[in-house]
Amino acid sequence: MLKTLEKEAVVMQEAQRLYKVLQGVSKTKAEKWAWEDCLAAAPYTLAINRFKKEKNAVILAHSYTTPDLVYGVADFRGDSYELALKARESSADIILFAGVWFMAQTAKLINPSKRVLIPAGKAGCTLADSMTGEQVRQLRRAHPGVTALCYINSTAEVKAACDVCVTSGNVFDIAQKMPGDELIFVPDMLMAENLENELKKRGTPKKIIASGGSCCVHDKYRPSDVQMLRAKYPGIRVLAHPECAAEVCQLCDYVGSTKGMVSYVAACTDKIFGMFTEFGLVNRLEAEYPDKTFVWPFGVCSYMKKNSLINTLEALVDPRPDQVVEVNENVAVQARKSIEKMFELTK
Ligand code: 13P
Ligand code: SF4
Repeated sequence: MLKTLEKEAVVMQEAQRLYKVLQGVSKTKAEKWAWEDCLAAAPYTLAINRFKKEKNAVILAHSYTTPDLVYGVADFRGDSYELALKARESSADIILFAGVWFMAQTAKLINPSKRVLIPAGKAGCTLADSMTGEQVRQLRRAHPGVTALCYINSTAEVKAACDVCVTSGNVFDIAQKMPGDELIFVPDMLMAENLENELKKRGTPKKIIASGGSCCVHDKYRPSDVQMLRAKYPGIRVLAHPECAAEVCQLCDYVGSTKGMVSYVAACTDKIFGMFTEFGLVNRLEAEYPDKTFVWPFGVCSYMKKNSLINTLEALVDPRPDQVVEVNENVAVQARKSIEKMFELTK
């Protein structure tokens, strides 16, 4: 009886820890995280955090995953670049990456000897799935001598076929440093247009030869969405991820990575922000800046949301084969070079 009561008290305490962060954070478009949600999550976060210690695992969670993961069990939260850096620096035996497949695959490329797990299994990404390594090689044969950059949202095969990997946080700076007046950029056609515009603005124009697809979340936003927010909330600051269309980005006050947007909000004394990005980042901002208001046309990445407390626990305790990341070593050798080049150029 006493033991049961003690256990219940521990769960209650954990639920209180979660509720402190999650109250006020949107769970869906219409509802906020409730006390009952935190109470239901608490036994899982307790178990995951216990297994994490026992197995010497580190949990990295992309900002687009749900806040129970981000604030309940993650050791580090962030964008693709921040988490790739954390994966690189980690001394843990196991890296559990709550994100999509290409992110966990990147962590494995950087840490070939570590066990890398992904709760969501082979969670895709419309960008990473838009292009194969062979398509990049064909493009390069058509443009010999042109440096090829790949966005980190790409497969290991695509990274292996390119010279330098970039993320939304360093794409403009790295492209600017590249020699020549032409660049190949894959696989985000919309980011390619933003890149060409930004390089022109910086006075270092380059022709961008682009191929690939677009992000199914960010390509939905339209210039009229920005205009509508500006009309409804005079003085609003509007921020967009560079995966949005150029016509949207041109109407915004800030265009940058997930980390860039968080830093912008942190530094800005204004109180209301229009966010042209994914729901999870809005959740992070709601949790970390409760005195500010965030509005946006709803956009959710269903791939990121495949990560949950249940499959995180499952992956830690006894992973399914699709939750364990492996990369063919021949591909990995080349792909690693383009990632290491990115770290070198971002110093
Ligand atoms: P970040 O690099 O900004 O995290 O973006 C990754 C992503 O998938 C955006 O849709
Ligand atoms: Fe890919 Fe878009 Fe999801 Fe990011 S938000 S992981 S780019 S599908």
